[in-house]
Amino acid sequence: MKNDSSFDFDTVVNSCGTDSAKWAKYHGKDIIPLWVADMDFKSPPAILQAVHERIEHGVFGYTLPSAELNDVVISRLDDHYGWKVEPKWLVWLPGLVTGFNAACRAIGEAGDDVMTAIPVYHPFLSAPANFNRRLIRVPLMETNRRWYFDFDRIEEAITPQTRLFLLCSPHNPVGRVFSAEELTTLARICEKHDIIICSDEIHCDLILDPEKSHIPTASLTPSIADRTITLMSASKTFNTPGLGCAFAVISNRALRKRYIRAMAGIVPLINTLGYVATLAAFRNCGDWHAALLDYLRNNRDLVAEAISNMPNLSMAPLEATYLAWIDVRKTGLKNPIEYFESAGIGMQDGADFDGPGFVRFNFGCPRETLEEALRRMADALDKLKAQ
Ligand SMILES: Cc1ncc(COP(=O)(O)O)c(C=O)c1O
Repeated sequence: MKNDSSFDFDTVVNSCGTDSAKWAKYHGKDIIPLWVADMDFKSPPAILQAVHERIEHGVFGYTLPSAELNDVVISRLDDHYGWKVEPKWLVWLPGLVTGFNAACRAIGEAGDDVMTAIPVYHPFLSAPANFNRRLIRVPLMETNRRWYFDFDRIEEAITPQTRLFLLCSPHNPVGRVFSAEELTTLARICEKHDIIICSDEIHCDLILDPEKSHIPTASLTPSIADRTITLMSASKTFNTPGLGCAFAVISNRALRKRYIRAMAGIVPLINTLGYVATLAAFRNCGDWHAALLDYLRNNRDLVAEAISNMPNLSMAPLEATYLAWIDVRKTGLKNPIEYFESAGIGMQDGADFDGPGFVRFNFGCPRETLEEALRRMADALDKLKAQ
């Protein structure tokens, strides 16, 4: 069944042979890849057209962000979040992983501590050590089928050397959209201990729960903004991660200078087509974005319904992202990923995120692919139960 918007999310696009990281992993095997966080949809028509036009020009020299792009980003942040940003606060980046690694390099000294809440997007776990910082991991807590920060444990775990908090908001992999109160409490703790916040908000436009809205950490108060490096990109929402374009927003001048110094010599100029795609995404793709959210909400509902009927699996209600975080501990499987791969489903191991006993299921795909994956998963669990 086609979705009723004029955009097509139903067609299965064959990505085999495109060197797609997601599809190459299981090349030649009958395993549906539902792991790395990109979607199987084509980017919006307006992005495809803008990229085609730029390619027609034929010259791909070093490129700068245009004033128009900065203006479009700034109006979008105001329109979507009521967040007033100045052009000089923007620092363009080839990606968010680069962005939070640069934050680890910029803040504090070798030997200092960086804190994060686990489970979390796995490059958070390796970034501090890239710059000889120690990582302090504080578990999120699951209460009444919802994930929360454990503020007491966060405060207890802070050391005099803790300089940076790596925050993922909305959260990958648990799919929470944090409230103003939760973010403010976290930020107040960081203020009290003079900790800089690096707020990775790459999933900010993938809010599935209509009751929730994304709140940029830096939009809370000027003093919180003063200690926050915000990272954003069009790449998750508009499915352009292969085009390498993101940005940081840093209002504090001294912090921004430090950050730019940390990038020097290791962060290249941004991909020309990445800029083009970002401009088109933010300027011309509002209808596509709304249709995508409808489609993903239906996919999320299908996943939640299917999981609730599978023996020994559970998941908390997912508020954002196209990544379901599924608790498989009760299955007793020692290696859930291997078991599900043998049943033709390629998910990502929760252990990668420091969340062993969970799997992450990417439902950013056409309904036909999703339904087949859920059928395979249900069969695999029935077989397991029968053993
Ligand atoms: C929280 C988070 N940050 C960053 C990234 C990757 O960002 P980039 O491709 O811009 O480096 C991802 C991708 O899944 C993510 O989930």
